[in-house]
Amino acid sequence: MFDVGDVLKDLTRQEKVRLLCGKDEWQTHEVERLGIPSMRMTDGAHGVRLAKDGTPGASVEATAFPVEATMASTWNPKLVQAAAQAIGDECRSLRVHLLLGPGVNGKRSPLAGRNFEYFSEDPFLASEMAVAFVKGLQSRGVGACLKHYVGNEQETRRLVVNSVISERPLHEIYLFPFARVIKKAKPWAVMAAYNSVNGTTCTNHTFLLTSILRERLGFKGLVLSDWGAVKHKVAAHREGLDLEMPGPGRRDAELLKGLESGAIQEKTIDERVSRVLEAVNAANTVKESWEQSSAEAIDSKARHDLAVAVAQEGLVLLKNSKRALPLDKQKTTALIGQFAGSPRYQGTGSSRVAAKNLTNAYDSCRARQKNILWAAGYAMSGKSTDSFVEEAVQAAAKADQVVFFTGTTEDAEGEGVDRASLLLPPTHSKLIEALYRANQKLVVVLYSGSALETRAIDPHAPAILYAGLPGEGGGEAVARVLYGEVNPSGKLSETFPERLEHNPTYETFPGGRSDTKYTEGIFVGYRYYDTKKLPVQYPFGFGLSYTSFKFSSSDYESTTRVVTVTVTNTGAVAGAEVVQVYIHDEKSTYRRPEQELKGFAKVFLGPGEKKKVSIQLDETAFSYFVTHLGRFAEESGRFEIRIGSSSREIHEILCICHESDTECRVLPTVDDTVHDWSGDERTAGVVEELFDELELGKGHPMWGIVQGLPVKSLPAFLPSLGFDDVVVEEVKSRLNIP
Ligand code: BGC
Repeated sequence: MFDVGDVLKDLTRQEKVRLLCGKDEWQTHEVERLGIPSMRMTDGAHGVRLAKDGTPGASVEATAFPVEATMASTWNPKLVQAAAQAIGDECRSLRVHLLLGPGVNGKRSPLAGRNFEYFSEDPFLASEMAVAFVKGLQSRGVGACLKHYVGNEQETRRLVVNSVISERPLHEIYLFPFARVIKKAKPWAVMAAYNSVNGTTCTNHTFLLTSILRERLGFKGLVLSDWGAVKHKVAAHREGLDLEMPGPGRRDAELLKGLESGAIQEKTIDERVSRVLEAVNAANTVKESWEQSSAEAIDSKARHDLAVAVAQEGLVLLKNSKRALPLDKQKTTALIGQFAGSPRYQGTGSSRVAAKNLTNAYDSCRARQKNILWAAGYAMSGKSTDSFVEEAVQAAAKADQVVFFTGTTEDAEGEGVDRASLLLPPTHSKLIEALYRANQKLVVVLYSGSALETRAIDPHAPAILYAGLPGEGGGEAVARVLYGEVNPSGKLSETFPERLEHNPTYETFPGGRSDTKYTEGIFVGYRYYDTKKLPVQYPFGFGLSYTSFKFSSSDYESTTRVVTVTVTNTGAVAGAEVVQVYIHDEKSTYRRPEQELKGFAKVFLGPGEKKKVSIQLDETAFSYFVTHLGRFAEESGRFEIRIGSSSREIHEILCICHESDTECRVLPTVDDTVHDWSGDERTAGVVEELFDELELGKGHPMWGIVQGLPVKSLPAFLPSLGFDDVVVEEVKSRLNIP
């Protein structure tokens, strides 16, 4: 540990500038003469991806947990926290100080290739999961780095795209998870993204890096660039970036020149260097404690077991008819599909972990029952041939029950690649139909990093289990659910629309040559589908169980903002339900979505058991971003507190009156219309009284025209209706028209 202030005085200009860029791909510079060590970072976040020395492209084996999207489907922050803690332990054992994750970007389109790396289409759920993750990781003395700050919601032209986002969605949807995680979990670092927002590159964005991150959110940690994202070296450090990554830096001379010319001040450089040194200090302070407490770390077997536990809670049962699930061990089962043996368990790109102990559904099912038939059904590329189909159909016909493993192929989505559609490979959909014709006891297990269109397969798939990308424990987890050893309790963290065309970004994703316009604004995911009252295939928050639940006796205590509800397991097996609290604002000054998730809790219940569940709403529960106030604000009025088991299954509704001192409405001025004045009780009285006196009320033939006039143009208009100068002067004085 060294004193940052003292060290800063002893550093030469060259040394300071050098510290502002990485030494190599993953480390900061050390300054040996002053005893400043380096800090090591590496990719994540659902596991550690540490480059293997001497083998380009290879990484050290580590536990591969489910990807963030699948972690979020657990709706269990405690479990996510435990997973992140275990990842922290693994970072420690690999001598990694800072993990480059988690990602908290939004999911405006289900086509976005990195959606699997982000938690949810809902900023509240995403933030709750990320808070748990960051707390878990950092509790082991390893730093988290939130990414990608901000507006990085697509892979097409990801390095150069300009995301055009208006103020309200920027705050309400995209900055929200960053803000909440910074406040509640204090991550060590934030990664500035490649893209531009509203015309300025994120790595030199004064508003985002300084006004928002430092001044509004009070972020004290390190701001580093995404790999190669610095476009303007001097401007980046001047406007708020601390550390350029990766190294070695080739632009030190540029920065030194900037200092000489006054384009950047020495004081600013000192501030940036201090942030780097503080992070290095934290990393190495922790390193000392690592040596002392390594005994606490959980071992690799326990980490794997935890990866299985997270996967099994993240599996979402979308459909279960004809008693297709659980499978009957005594009967013959046909397992069809390459993904049964070579599972899709994570996405491609920088987050890819070299899984230590990969399970597959084929082996895990074989471990449970002997009478299993198998057919590949298709090649790993997704392609199929007649002989593949024939063999699969024959196996299905011979068996009592069939499980078909399908999903997106690895090259269809990933870092750098947006998807082309939400459909399964056509060969797979056709195979589902053929299998169903051969055997109606058909279960489909789906793998993908984001929503799929299942409309075409639903009629031929009595049961569907959505596995997301479940990590190394996925095979074992799927088998446990298929055989009913584990009752599924995952819930979708994003909507499965009926068709891609229903998605609000259908026309704007991935945008034109340089700009992507976020024209859907705040209406992202279910905020859009629910407001539009569009049918969806599987709603946000949806997931079935092998048991059933009843909600009753809900209540809301306004002073403490606590929602309570009793949940009863009305079925014959133990299970878990996720209680979801959505807020519906009956009347707001500015348009709001039909409902927004503001709290949730997962409750585990034995058969017949009931529990009272309490959910604490926080200061964000009733508020929304009011642009002209420049902040989140709550309005007084009537709200519904909707308690349900998905966004479309609301079981209890509490109607409440919420009191707030904030006035969100702008007082109409003379530039606004007569109609605006009539619609606001603060100005309605004066116009109504005046128009009554002038007999210009609703019955007047020109009433509609008058309503549409700006108040200031009344004096010029009234003479055309036969009013003289005296009346005009009176109107001017009563309405304060200059
Ligand atoms: C990705 C980041 C990643 C970095 C380092 C970039 O291309 O966008 O998410 O952390 O590479 O691998």
